[in-house]
Amino acid sequence: MAENDIDRDAIKDEVDQIFGNRPKHEGPELYQVNDQSSIKHVIGVISGKGGVGKSLVTGILATELARKGHKVGILDADITGPSIPKMFGLSGLHVFGQGDKIIPAQSKGGIKIMSTNLVLENENDPVLWRGPMLMGALKQFYEDTLWGDIDYLLVDMPPGTGDVALTVFQSLPIEGVVIVSSPQDLVQVIVGKAVKMAAMMNVPVLGVVENMSYMECPECGHKLEPFGPSHLQEIVDEFKVADLGRIPIDPKVAASCDAGTFESELPEGFIPEAVSAVEA
Ligand SMILES: Nc1ncnc2c1ncn2[C@@H]1O[C@H](COP(=O)(O)OP(=O)(O)OP(=O)(O)O)[C@@H](O)[C@H]1O
Ligand SMILES: [Mg+2]
Repeated sequence: MAENDIDRDAIKDEVDQIFGNRPKHEGPELYQVNDQSSIKHVIGVISGKGGVGKSLVTGILATELARKGHKVGILDADITGPSIPKMFGLSGLHVFGQGDKIIPAQSKGGIKIMSTNLVLENENDPVLWRGPMLMGALKQFYEDTLWGDIDYLLVDMPPGTGDVALTVFQSLPIEGVVIVSSPQDLVQVIVGKAVKMAAMMNVPVLGVVENMSYMECPECGHKLEPFGPSHLQEIVDEFKVADLGRIPIDPKVAASCDAGTFESELPEGFIPEAVSAVEA
């Protein structure tokens, strides 16, 4: 086999081992949203490995969809490593209850957000929950949150292919996933794993966004590729998925995520192909 040939059987074996080859919704229950909420579309944002920009892409999609007039929610399913509240300037905030339900936090732009950070007494405490506690949190975030009317609920998935990722796929009515990659990702192994995971869960892949794809020299505008050349075309050809655009490395973006000013500072019309793919 040539070095660049993809070994589909090997990937399938690996995913089979992780997921036990269970078809969707066989096993865990399908979560039901409460009768005071109605969610039209649930969209997942996934990647084959951590730290490539899932939360950033979730935030961009949510902000752009809200700017277009849609009612948007974000379920931060990265229970042990939540980063959505900080990006949206909700650090230190707590959600409160109404009866046995939870009222989600809201960003300045009206995006409803539910995340572990919003229920922890001290958001800097590590979340040491395991197994049933994690699943319980996810179920509550979906079922017991007073989402109200939502057009698009974006689910920021935890990195990798662990229990929570599997539960999200099996328990939420995910309509499609956006895969986030970086030029550092090994296409066949890392991106292949994410594509295969979605396929085995019978969830359509809306397409792939390549983050940290290039950088523009602030002096001369020359495009640099610090993480190597883009793999996006290779991914599109290999897995027959849609190209949803490339995001440059931009220190301003990182700074606005840290400062909680991301939503107001995000330029209009970011990754329009990805936004349209979710809207379609
Ligand atoms: N295009 C970019 N330009 C500048 N900084 C970026 C870019 N993309 C992501 N970052 C920064 O890199 C870090 C990781 O991004 P992000 O949190 O979105 O990744 P993730 O895939 O959600 O990570 P995790 O797997 O830990 O959940 C963040 O601090 C973010 O601000
Ligand atoms: Mg994240």
